[in-house]
Amino acid sequence: MAIQWFPGHMTSARKKAAETMAVTDVVIEVVDARLPEASTNPLVHELRRQRQRPCLKVLNKSDLADPAATRAWIAWYDRQPGVKAVAVSSKNAGEVARLPGLCQGLAPHRNDNVKPLRMMIMGIPNVGKSTLMNALVKRRIAKVGDEPAVTKSQQTHQLGVRQWITDTPGLMWPKIEHDSDGYMLAASHAIGRNAIIDEEVAVFLADLLLARYPQRLAERYGLAADGLDGVAVVEGIARRRALRTRGGDPDLEKASMVLLQDYRDGKLGRISLETPQTRQAMLARAAASGDAEGRQD
Ligand code: G4P
Repeated sequence: MAIQWFPGHMTSARKKAAETMAVTDVVIEVVDARLPEASTNPLVHELRRQRQRPCLKVLNKSDLADPAATRAWIAWYDRQPGVKAVAVSSKNAGEVARLPGLCQGLAPHRNDNVKPLRMMIMGIPNVGKSTLMNALVKRRIAKVGDEPAVTKSQQTHQLGVRQWITDTPGLMWPKIEHDSDGYMLAASHAIGRNAIIDEEVAVFLADLLLARYPQRLAERYGLAADGLDGVAVVEGIARRRALRTRGGDPDLEKASMVLLQDYRDGKLGRISLETPQTRQAMLARAAASGDAEGRQD
């Protein structure tokens, strides 16, 4: 399944983002801590590189991610030039309050009334940009919603006399290079339901859980992982929850939604869909098979 999703308003959003980048000192790039690279938009990197802007990489929703994987990601991003990484939960005001100071560290010369620090929030839909923005300005200015692409236009706000912040609409990219990224994004609801098939995404997630978090399947659904594959996990959930079609067969569609919703709500525990190691292995496989080019930030 190739997932493509680039609504028309994304083209104008990209143009506007490039203009704002010209008058920005530090980019706050919000990604989902559970899938930091899959939820990284290569367009952000491209726009940033054109203007040589430093980046605070915010691994948001870290309350839902596996802490060990998050630590590995932070070390990985901190090795990249011009990048500082931090893990937060935007629902925690105290954690968010650290961000302007970290941005200031990336642009120490922008620190007075004449040259205020100009920050710009970027990221794909549904990674928590609006939640973060609301926490930063300490009031509700951006609409938070679980359906992707709720934020539609740019807004600039003053955080203090020396700090300005602009938020941008969720930016998707024209082509998702790797299928597994599409599945991870769909599982985490960064791609709208019309663009995906829940059952395929649930089977992908089930396979990943079998490989990396089998215990969680046992705890939540009483499924012993031995000998199962992703399809069998979804069937098992349908059986355990007595989800049947009218004809009496296991209702795989409903079981898929149960698994996806449990993952999205954190009911399976703290889970990361990728780590730097799994990412590198995936890129190596893709490069070897020649069906996609390995992308390095
Ligand atoms: P966006 O602007 O990037 O599109 O994302 P937005 O802030 O609208 O957030 C998308 C969803 O992610 C919201 O869920 C929001 O509450 C949730 N969220 C944002 N940051 C965090 C975080 O750090 N941790 C967790 N666990 N969730 C986060 P929602 O279901 O629409 O709203 P709600 O029911 O959570 O209020």
